[in-house]
Amino acid sequence: MKLKILVTAGDGIGPEVTNEAVAVLKEIAAQGGHDFSFDEKRIGGVAIVQDGTPLPKDTLDAALASDAVLLGAVGGNEFNSLAPDKRPEAGLLQIRAALGGFANLRPCFSFKELTVNSPLRPEIVEGTDIMFVRELLGGLYFGKPREWNKEKGESWNTMRYTREEVARVARIAFKLAQGRRKKLTSVDKANVLEVSQLWRATVIEVAAEFPDVTLEHQYVDAMAIHIMNRPRDFDVVVTENLFGDILTDESGVITGSLGMLPSATIGGKVNLYEPVHGSAPDIAGKGLANPLGAILTAALILRHSGGLEAEAALVEASVRKVLEQGFRTPDLARGNKDGLTVLSTKQMGAKVRETVKEQLSAVSH
Ligand code: NAD
Ligand code: IPM
Ligand code: MN
Repeated sequence: MKLKILVTAGDGIGPEVTNEAVAVLKEIAAQGGHDFSFDEKRIGGVAIVQDGTPLPKDTLDAALASDAVLLGAVGGNEFNSLAPDKRPEAGLLQIRAALGGFANLRPCFSFKELTVNSPLRPEIVEGTDIMFVRELLGGLYFGKPREWNKEKGESWNTMRYTREEVARVARIAFKLAQGRRKKLTSVDKANVLEVSQLWRATVIEVAAEFPDVTLEHQYVDAMAIHIMNRPRDFDVVVTENLFGDILTDESGVITGSLGMLPSATIGGKVNLYEPVHGSAPDIAGKGLANPLGAILTAALILRHSGGLEAEAALVEASVRKVLEQGFRTPDLARGNKDGLTVLSTKQMGAKVRETVKEQLSAVSH
């Protein structure tokens, strides 16, 4: 398998976690005889400082010419006073729009060993397996008009969706549900917002194409508590951009850390892969970051861009195994540390790689 991967590590812990994800991909390539190539380009704060823009043209060109883009994270406190269109985050939104992926898959599954790490009771989170499908190119993030009118002391953003934008992401969610437990929950605010009424009506229309999938609707405020009270009840969850942003960070409570969550954005010209977490300025540069979300994101590259399902599953199994053996990054070792070994970002990456290697040789012998 040949894959041309562009790595845009970005800011804060972005480079720390993507290094470990790339190293895992290199291990898979070396053992399996795959031809994976890696190019690196700047995005976010580091690009603002060096190139004067959060998304330099050569980064965008390289992204469009690649088979997959792996992004670390962007953002830093030193950019907080900039207008939204000048900030590191603008680079991320621009690359998302240019690559065209509109369905951001954010799987949230509980690892048995980490159930004690969740502030929720283990019997609530154990066995949770949710696939969030966050619409990524519409809603408040991209709707116009948008402005902060300082003279008037007034500002506005626009939550806008077309029927086609809702239908295409709904189709992806229904298809995913068909391959899973055949249940789809659509999340909106149709009791208040016209845009949510269009969302709901469109999802209901699309449902006719998927009679084997059970569809339910939830309001986003209620959904925020349902995923805490009864996360196992949900299979695929589809929602608009901002609701999906918020609900997926919340789902980090289920996995025990935001640092465990991966994502893949599909449906456009080039798939974009990024862990759900941000640049974590509070722990950047200290070797404290959990690289497992980024490594699980590498597994999604294997699955969705490489068609390498067995290898993707093997990386996921290796993460599970490392956790079973008691290895933890600091975010996963709060409270009782008996029987646990706390590792740095690099040490955790090395453990996963070692396990990947062992599992691959077990498969081939
Ligand atoms: P954050 O996700 O960076 O951090 C939230 C909390 O989770 C912090 O306490 C952090 O230390 C912890 N955390 C996050 N990832 C972790 C990991 N892998 N291991 C251990 N702990 C981890 O969110 P924030 O602090 O609100 O945002 C910081 C910056 O990141 C902002 O500029 C924001 O815009 C940006 N951001 C970028 C992305 C992205 O690039 N995809 C996503 C979210 C936030
Ligand atoms: C995420 C982030 C981004 C988003 C920001 C940094 C633009 O929070 O990927 O979840 O809101 O989409
Ligand atoms: Mn977010």
